[in-house]
Amino acid sequence: MIMSRLPERVRVVEVGPRDGLQNESQQISTETKVELIHRLAATGLSDIEATSFVSPKWVPQMADAAQVLAQLDLNSNINFPVLTPNMKGLERALECGARQVAVFGAASESFSQKNINCSIEESLERFRPMVSHALENNVKVRGYVSCVLGCPYEGDIAPDQVLSVSNALLEMGCYEISLGDTIGVGTAASTQRLLDVMCQAISVKQLAGHFHNTYGQALTNIYTALGYGVATFDASVAGLGGCPYAPGASGNVATEDVLYLLHGLGIETGIDLDKLAAVGHFISTLLQRENRSAVGNAMTSKQVE
Ligand code: HMG
Ligand code: MG
Repeated sequence: MIMSRLPERVRVVEVGPRDGLQNESQQISTETKVELIHRLAATGLSDIEATSFVSPKWVPQMADAAQVLAQLDLNSNINFPVLTPNMKGLERALECGARQVAVFGAASESFSQKNINCSIEESLERFRPMVSHALENNVKVRGYVSCVLGCPYEGDIAPDQVLSVSNALLEMGCYEISLGDTIGVGTAASTQRLLDVMCQAISVKQLAGHFHNTYGQALTNIYTALGYGVATFDASVAGLGGCPYAPGASGNVATEDVLYLLHGLGIETGIDLDKLAAVGHFISTLLQRENRSAVGNAMTSKQVE
């Protein structure tokens, strides 16, 4: 295990409006989505993944991507990245003025087929001209790799497979790779095995952690990744979410819980935890769903006492 000092500052990428809401069975209005993003923007977050320009036939919840983006100030100092699965999605995003996009591949063949209807190799062929086109338009591209610690269809995934897809995305011009534990099965040990391989070949500055919390291990995995110097983590307010093509997977690690961990370690994020917890309470109440942030629930019940 390569242990470095803990980072002094961590960038938290809020993915609730996209990863969080994409799997909600009730149709959420554009107005609610925009209200959620505006409230998140007032907490000090620097990056809020706003929506995804995927096929509405595949994910109807994200059909209003253009309307959501139209109501955001894309020239503010907050980044509002969006997911783009293919050239059509990229063109739609560019027309709406997106300044940052993300392509999403997988380290598992079966998941790639289920999620984006093509093999890993085909996906990389699809992404290459997209990344070039985005960069020509001064739009930065993030690369996601799903199923890095396990696949719902194939089980264990070899770290070398994750490395090979990540290297291909970086070579195309992605500025960062977000390592997705899509179904939240990772442990401290499997996170170590993965990062031992990844950090030998890729600068830790180009790696981000994206942990779902299905088995309650996300914070432990984040703490493990911090030990390698990983300084960017994706999280979802109130632990919203799940992936429509990963049955049984629960939401991302809650942003409130990540902030509590980081601030407790003396790591700066620039985000106000009280304000963030209030947003978690707002969206959970509005969607009439359980708040999956332990920290958010504890803070809310304290106020009630
Ligand atoms: P396909 O069916 O192979 O695509 O889907 P197609 O090119 O044959 O198009 C089918 C229809 O969709 C056509 O419409 C296209 O025009 C339309 P028709 O001619 O039948 O009327 N279409 C589009 N419309 C709008 N925007 C587009 C678009 N593309 C096609 N961009 C495709 C292939 C990739 C489009 C589809 O599989 C798809 O949209 N998949 C997205 C699935 C998804 O959103 N999954 C969740 C996000 S990934 C995730 O959550 C993991 C992550 O969080 C990390 C982690 O946790 O691991 C990122
Ligand atoms: Mg995810």
